[in-house]
Amino acid sequence: MTDIRFLGHATFELNDGSNSVLIDPFLTGNPAAAVSADELSPDVILLTHGHGDHFADLVPIAKRTGATVITMLEIADELTGDGLANVIGPNIGGSVDFPGGSVKLVPAWHSSSTPKGTVSTATGLIVRFGGATIYHLGDTALFGDMELIGRRHEIDVALVPIGGFFTMDPDDAAESVRLIGPRAVIPCHYNTFPVIEVDVEAFKAEVEANTASTVIVLEPGETHTL
Ligand code: NI
Ligand code: MN
Repeated sequence: MTDIRFLGHATFELNDGSNSVLIDPFLTGNPAAAVSADELSPDVILLTHGHGDHFADLVPIAKRTGATVITMLEIADELTGDGLANVIGPNIGGSVDFPGGSVKLVPAWHSSSTPKGTVSTATGLIVRFGGATIYHLGDTALFGDMELIGRRHEIDVALVPIGGFFTMDPDDAAESVRLIGPRAVIPCHYNTFPVIEVDVEAFKAEVEANTASTVIVLEPGETHTL
């Protein structure tokens, strides 16, 4: 059993009843945030890339909780240099086990720099947790190797950015779902700011008309249980 709680923008919390995994913690300054950063006590924090709308609360939460942080090598080095004790920095293609699951970094077509200026490569995350496989696409454009990622991993739930401007728009995101072939899709990275306002119900209708995937629209704070 896995609970997937949408916390707003691209921030998700996974919970299997004994471990909690926080992905891309952006609560402070997030107009759509469902909780404040100090309400969260993750065991593990995963980060797709360094941009502020993903990285925002990572350091304070990790310092307070001692959570293990897993992210791209260059960002991991910055975090270790900032005094975080439990940081693991693989590179794209690499997998890391953590209590209750594992994560593999996969490609994403996007840029990545931290608020301090560390430049690296953006990633997506294949998370195996609580018996489920969850693919957080990170921020990305549509790219053909999503089909390869879908062939290599049986995805239960894909967390798909649809807001456009910084990422895929709903039309490209619907094509990404066709390439990946997940059982279910939870859209994210939309409606947080005016520049990424989209019609999520139109996205759901397009995906469900053209693929076998189910789209689950979560309001910030809502949970989907697998
Ligand atoms: Ni970004
Ligand atoms: Mn973003």
